[in-house]
Amino acid sequence: MQGSSDKTFYLETFGCQMNVHDSEKVIGTLLQQGYRQVPSVEEAGLILYNTCSIRDKAEQKVFHRLADYRKLQEQGKKFGVLGCVAQQEGERIFERAPHVSIVCGSASYRNLPEMLVQIEAGNRTTGLDDRQTDHCFETEYTARTNPHRGYITIIEGCDKFCAYCVVPFTRGKERSRTSASVLAEVRQLAELGYTEIQLLGQNVNSYRDPDGKKSFAELLKAVAEVNGIERVRFTTSHPRDFGRDIVQAIDGTPALCDHVHLPVQSGSTRVLDAMQRLYTRDEYLERISWIHSAKRDISITTDLIVGFPGETEREFEETLSLLDAVGYDSAFTFKYSPRPNTPALRLEDAIPDSEKAQRLAVLNERQKQIQTRRNQRHLGQTIRVMVEGKNPTRGQWIGRTSQIKVLNFTAPERVELKTGSYADVKVTAIFPNSLVGEMIAGGL
Ligand code: SAH
Ligand code: SF4
Ligand code: F3S
Repeated sequence: MQGSSDKTFYLETFGCQMNVHDSEKVIGTLLQQGYRQVPSVEEAGLILYNTCSIRDKAEQKVFHRLADYRKLQEQGKKFGVLGCVAQQEGERIFERAPHVSIVCGSASYRNLPEMLVQIEAGNRTTGLDDRQTDHCFETEYTARTNPHRGYITIIEGCDKFCAYCVVPFTRGKERSRTSASVLAEVRQLAELGYTEIQLLGQNVNSYRDPDGKKSFAELLKAVAEVNGIERVRFTTSHPRDFGRDIVQAIDGTPALCDHVHLPVQSGSTRVLDAMQRLYTRDEYLERISWIHSAKRDISITTDLIVGFPGETEREFEETLSLLDAVGYDSAFTFKYSPRPNTPALRLEDAIPDSEKAQRLAVLNERQKQIQTRRNQRHLGQTIRVMVEGKNPTRGQWIGRTSQIKVLNFTAPERVELKTGSYADVKVTAIFPNSLVGEMIAGGL
């Protein structure tokens, strides 16, 4: 019935990979309910936004979209807000945007089928979580958009309550799936031809098997040993729960990618304490030393916040010196943004935006130098990449290394590479954010 359905929806996703993957599950659920996905707002009967509220700018996006398309309500179109802004703002969304009929946070997606019936009957409906649910959103109908890299959520929610962060309020309490159900999904994906698996969770390494069968590191190894799986990634790891066994698993398991994303947020123990991050600078650096002493060349990436309330110039400099001590291969950097419900709201956000911007620029410049220096080590190496596509203007192929770096490369003219295939590439030049190379003969 799918192709002939007159129930149509358009879905736009903001935010992190967990949101991207939630959307794949929401799309599958809607298809199952007889809806058909269309590529534009104009063609759709139901317009959905899966939203992010991590920083103020992210949150504003959905309200801009809703304002842009408000007039379309006159044509009988319905609107829905899903995800983190939905959970955070709840019924207030109906006041700000009266043309919205669904407000649903991620912990309530399994109720979507009934909610769709409600809006079809002309009612408004909400699905809001009270941090009580033990359910994970598991569905057999996930409509994956990437045919090569399969996302799998293994742990939902967050119990850490960092002082600046909305996620514990928007995603509910921490709850893990059984290792048996995760492995069943991996096997299913492998049979469909997926070779890369990315395990997801806001604190992926806080994973606790409800059946008590596998630790996180054991689950990583088991996923990597599934027939047909060539690459396994996992994101995001929290430093507090980062054990040495994860490094040992990577060292001993070729299919585990040589990359760890380990957000540090600040290099100052005083600021880390104010952020309620649950580790000191030295404890963080100890984890880094485990990774540095691995046999494999594991790339380390991070997230950083500048201008947290009370951060002094000196404390900011401790963040700069931490960059040097770790030698990150990449970093996502943000200016502190005060968020609703969070404990840090009680602290005065006294650092002017111009100062935050200045610190951010200094941080980014320092990190750029580090990346340029660190990428030197790849010159002359032959590195296996997964082919992700071709850049039509430059005629170069786009590859992704196990360390998650972009490696743009040339191949002989007659060679047509399939996306999702693997190629061996010799690195001939480097930039701060990418590598350049040539495919080597027989490198398929
Ligand atoms: N669970 C992950 C992070 C998820 S949010 C972890 O604990 O590391 C992704 C990143 O957004 C965070 O690492 C942080 O650097 C940034 N972030 C979160 N809240 C923020 C805020 N209020 N202002 C600025 N950046 C923020
Ligand atoms: Fe947010 Fe902290 Fe949870 Fe990460 S661990 S999602 S930063 S509260
Ligand atoms: Fe944003 Fe929610 Fe992810 S706030 S970063 S979409 S968990």
